[in-house]
Amino acid sequence: MRDSFGSRFGAIVAMAGSAVGLGNLWRFPYLVGENGGAAFIIVYILLSFLICLPIFISEFVIGRRSQKNAYAAFRDLSGGSEWRWIGLFTVIVPLIVLSYYSVIGGWSVEYLLKSLSFSFSDASRITMNTMFTDFVSSTWAPLATHTVFLLFTTLIVIVGIKDGIEKFSKVMMPLLFIIVVAIAIYSLMLPGASAGVDYLFRPDFSKIDAKACASALGQAFFSLSLGFGTIMTYASYVSKGDNIMTQSAATAISDLMFALIAGVAIMPAVFAFGIDPQAGPGLVFETLPYIFGQMPAGGLIAILFFAALLVAALTSSISMLEVAVAYLVEEKKFSRVWACITLFVICWIVGALCSLSFGPLSHIRINGGNLFDFFDSLSSNVLMTLGSLFTVLFVGWRLKRTDIYDEFTNGGTLSTNARIFGVLWFLIRYICPLAIISIFLVGIFG
Ligand code: PHE
Repeated sequence: MRDSFGSRFGAIVAMAGSAVGLGNLWRFPYLVGENGGAAFIIVYILLSFLICLPIFISEFVIGRRSQKNAYAAFRDLSGGSEWRWIGLFTVIVPLIVLSYYSVIGGWSVEYLLKSLSFSFSDASRITMNTMFTDFVSSTWAPLATHTVFLLFTTLIVIVGIKDGIEKFSKVMMPLLFIIVVAIAIYSLMLPGASAGVDYLFRPDFSKIDAKACASALGQAFFSLSLGFGTIMTYASYVSKGDNIMTQSAATAISDLMFALIAGVAIMPAVFAFGIDPQAGPGLVFETLPYIFGQMPAGGLIAILFFAALLVAALTSSISMLEVAVAYLVEEKKFSRVWACITLFVICWIVGALCSLSFGPLSHIRINGGNLFDFFDSLSSNVLMTLGSLFTVLFVGWRLKRTDIYDEFTNGGTLSTNARIFGVLWFLIRYICPLAIISIFLVGIFG
C-alpha cells in the first residue's frame, strides 16, 4: 500500500518544513537587505498571497487528486497526454536544486561545528571573511560536509513518509520555531536594535523597481517550494478528507512568519553592530558569525542559529529528494532503498561539482559566475518559474473546472472553499500566468 501522512498536523508540518528552509533564514534576509527593506517585504507578501498561494493550491490539487508521483500525476490527469513531460521536468528539477542546496546545507554543518568549538569569539570581520572564503574554496572540507548533509537527507527519506519525513518534521519544526523566536527576542533587546526594526518595517517605495519585483517573486517561489514536484508529491500523501485551502494557507502563513522572524532575528543585530545590511549572500556565514563573536552570550546564540539553519535545510532537502524517489519507486519499480541510494549518488556528484566550483573548479565560468551560481540562478530564476507557469496552465486550461472544484471543495462539502472558488479560479487561469510571464521577462531583459 502507498505510504501517507499519519495526521493532518503531520501533513501541515511536513509541508511547512519543505517551505521553511535556507530560503527563509539565508536568502530572505539578504534579499531584504539588498532591496531596501520594508517596501520589498510588502511586495513579497502581496505576491505570496495573490500569485503563489493559488499556484500552491494548484499543485496541491494535482497531487491529491491523482495520489501519484509528479510524473504520473500529469500523465494520468491529462489522460496520458504529452503533459507527462512537464511532470518529468518537475521530477528532475528538484534534483538539481538538491545538489547545490546540499552544498549550502554542508556549510551549515561546518558552521555548527565551528560554533560548537566557539571559533567566532572576538574575531574581526576580516578574519570571518577569510574563514568563510578559505573554507568554501578548499577541496575536502566542503565536500565532506556536503556528503554528511546529503547522507542525513537520504537516511530520513529511506525510512518513508509517515515514519521518516513526518516524524522528523513533527519534532524539528516546533523546535526550529522556538529557536528562531528566541534569537529574534534576543536581537531586539540589543542596544541600537531599533534602526534594524525601522529598516524592516518602514517602507521606502522608491527602492521598488521591476527587478525588485522579479526577485521578490523568484524568492516567493523558492520559499514556498513551488514549480518543482515537491508540494504535488507531498499532497499525494494527504488524506482526501483534509481541507486544501486551510492546509495551503497554513503553510504559506508559517513560511511567511518564519521569513519575517528570521528578518527580525538578523537585521536588528546587523544594525546594532553598525554593519551595512547589503552584505549579500555572505550575510549569514560572514557577517553573522562576526556579530555572534561580539555579542554577549554570542557563543550560545551561534550554536542555536546554525542548528536552526541545519534543521530548516534538512526539512526542505528531504522534500526535494522525495519527488524523485516517488517517481523511481512507482514508475521504475525501484525499491525505496535503491531509489534513495541511486539519487544520493547522482546528487552527490552534481553537488560535488558545485562545491568544487568555489575552489579547484573556479575557472569554469558560465555567464560570469561559477557552476554553483549557474545552478542557483538557473533553477530559481528560470526552472521554478517555468514549472509554476506550466502548473497553473495545466490546472487552469487543461483540467476540467468541475474536477478542480470537486477536489478543492471535497466534493462540494466545504462551503467556504466553494464560495471562494470563483476568485481562485480566476487567479489561476488569468492572473497567475500573466504575472509570471511579465515578471519573468522583466527578470531576464529588464
Ligand atoms: N522552500 C525551501 C527553502 O525555502 C527550498 C525548496 C525549494 C524546497 C524547492 C523544496 C523545493 O529553503
